[in-house]
Amino acid sequence: MIALRVNGTEHTVDADPDMPLLWVVRDLIGLTGTKYGCGEALCGACVVHLDGEAVRACVTPISKAAGRSVTTIEGLSKDGNHPLQKAWVELGVPQCGYCQSGQIMSAAALLAKKPKPTNAEIDTSLAGNICRCGTYTRIRAAVRVAAGLPKEE
Ligand code: FES
Ligand code: FES
Repeated sequence: MIALRVNGTEHTVDADPDMPLLWVVRDLIGLTGTKYGCGEALCGACVVHLDGEAVRACVTPISKAAGRSVTTIEGLSKDGNHPLQKAWVELGVPQCGYCQSGQIMSAAALLAKKPKPTNAEIDTSLAGNICRCGTYTRIRAAVRVAAGLPKEE
């Protein structure tokens, strides 16, 4: 049995220590906002926070999350009112939506460290988050709006 806190709730899961955190979150705990894309740390669809740091849940064994605090897209805010979520809605960022929870979680980790990031810092922080629909321009603008910056530099 492995104990971890997910979005503020304590969970004890019966899982192999090597099971990826992604499967624990999605299949054992039932939080399906975090997506599976590549399973190899290449796309960013599965980004969650582990003690506030952005990690790729597909390659993070549950043993690494034992006793720690995990935040998924469902726990980013109580009612979808995180500045990033509001900016995402305001700018209509998603297209198919599949990559977007990972994008937002990576952006949230960035803003927690850098409340007013430059475009270069936004691009670097989100470089590992792939969007097949090509919403990159809107993503960058929404991160800027969430940070209280003008949409464009
Ligand atoms: S599913 Fe984890 S990085 Fe692609
Ligand atoms: S919105 Fe479709 S993959 Fe990003």
